This record gives sequence, structure tokens and C-alpha cells, in this order.
Amino acid sequence: MIGGKTTICGVIGCPIEHTISPLMHNFYARESGLDLAYLPFLVQPDQVDAAVRGAFALNISGLNVTVPHKQAVMSCLTGIDEAARVIGAVNTLVRTEAGYHGYNTDAAGLKRAMQEEQIPIAGQTCILLGAGGAAKAAVYMLAREAADKIYLLNRSVEKAEQLADHIRNTLGYQNIITGSLEAWREIEEDSCLAIQTTSVGMYPRIDDILIDDPAFYRKLHTAVDIIYTPMETNFMKMASGAKTMNGLTMLMYQGIAAFELWNPGVTIPAAMIARSKQLLLDHLGGQAR
Ligand code: ATR
Repeated sequence: MIGGKTTICGVIGCPIEHTISPLMHNFYARESGLDLAYLPFLVQPDQVDAAVRGAFALNISGLNVTVPHKQAVMSCLTGIDEAARVIGAVNTLVRTEAGYHGYNTDAAGLKRAMQEEQIPIAGQTCILLGAGGAAKAAVYMLAREAADKIYLLNRSVEKAEQLADHIRNTLGYQNIITGSLEAWREIEEDSCLAIQTTSVGMYPRIDDILIDDPAFYRKLHTAVDIIYTPMETNFMKMASGAKTMNGLTMLMYQGIAAFELWNPGVTIPAAMIARSKQLLLDHLGGQAR
């Protein structure tokens, strides 16, 4: 029951009606016995600053930030965590006395999801597809976790080059090779970890695929798609000879990382994580096909 002492958190985005974050966070709050409620807030792009100031005035404890506000929100904060600064995007706000501090839990979420699936990163030859917002968190994580080499391939090579330069300059990680979506043909290694970070293949356009040559997929020992609608993308289907993972566990762990930032000292136990995953699966079951 919401009462006078209830802690309020939420998510800002535009659109917001498809968010499954309230489902996740209200479940963790209830199951942990915390008096916390989590709400969706539709915020127009020209209202981000007003929304953040309003949230602070309303004593809102924490916010998630989703598309398209992850960059715009950065100028509304009193401080920004190092990972979020390098990634160039903030998805979690934590209230402080002076204002909100910004974090990015996407990279940590992807790392924890891959750990859980026992997908190693250190020493791996990686192929990262895409150079948008999600790719930034993924390339940051791969560089930080000491991938041996990262092939960063994108439709716009210029965007891949910009992202690679940024990672070289900020993290000092040099082993990034950029190219077009056809450049995989020049990759000599034949045992790679691929991470698909674009929206190509996402519901409702589930027949789309970024690379349709079976020879590409024979180079992979593991194929990660950050999409979770559908649960099995065409990219994952074509990589059926490899280990595959979709984006649902990453989504769950980025949420858990945010929840734990808002509730210091609280750790979501493994059994609750398993039940929340089932909750998300049940919820997405209808829309995932
Ligand atoms: P987000 O922040 O959600 O990742 P984004 O910044 O627009 O969204 O990035 C989308 C990514 O998907 C980009 O890598 C984009 O490629 P470009 O940089 O060349 O635009 C990629 N992408 C989107 N639609 C695509 C398509 N039809 N074919 C190939 N790549 C596509």
C-alpha cells in the first residue's frame, strides 16, 4: 500500500507505455519488504530539465532514464559516475542533497548477464555490431573487461570510428578495428564472440537481420543479441551453431543494479532474481512473438 512515507522512484522516457521497468522494480520492492513505489513518467524531449527539477522538488528518490533522454539528462545532474561519463549516457539517477547523481547500469547489466551465462570476455576476439547508444555501453564493458580485440562494425563506418576513437582516448584501449557491416569478411579469427546492439530484428520487424550470410555465423562461438522481443531473434537463429543469449537478462540486471543503487545495503537474492526473470518472461510472452 502506498502511504505517506512511501519512497517514490520511476522512469522517464518518450514513449513510455511499453516499459517493463515498473513491473520489475515494484516486484523487487514488494518481495524485499520495502515501502517503495515505481512509476512511469512520460516526459517530452523539451521537458527533460523541467522533469528532473520537478522530480527533485517532489522528493523523488531515484529515476531511470530511457530513450530518448539518456544523453539530454546529463546536463541536469550534479554529478556523473565515471562509467556513465565514458559511455556518454545516463540511465539511472540517484538523489543526493544537492541534486541527482547519474549512473549507467547498462554496461554492468550486460557484464553480469554474460557472467551468469558463463560467457567469457577477457582475452576474447569480439565482434560488436552497431555504434549507437547500446553499442557504447557494450564496447565500454568489453574494453574494461579486457577483451583481446574488438571489431566494431556499423552501417555508418564514420560513427564506428568516432566511437572507437572515444574508447581509445578515454580508456586507453587501443585494440579496436572499425569497419562496415561487410568487413567481417576480412576477419581472420574464426572463434569470435559477437554482440548485436542495433534494433534490427526487433518486434514488429522480426524478419529483419543485420547480416544474412551463414559464413559470418560460422565464425562465432557465442552470439549475444541485446534485443528481447522476440526472445529468439533471426540473428540468434542464424547463430544456432553457437551459444546464444538474448537481452532479457541484461535488462533485468541493469534494473537490479539501479534498484541496489537506490537502496544501499539491499541485495536482490538469487531466488528473487529467478522469479523476476519468470515474471518478465510471462509478461513478454504475449508480445515477444
Ligand atoms: P540506440 O541509441 O537505441 O542504439 P541509435 O543511436 O539510433 O539507437 O543506433 C542505432 C544503431 O542501429 C546504429 O548502429 C545504426 O547504424 P547507423 O549508425 O549506421 O545508423 C543501427 N541501425 C539501425 N537501423 C539499421 C539498419 N536498417 N541497418 C543497419 N544498421 C542499422
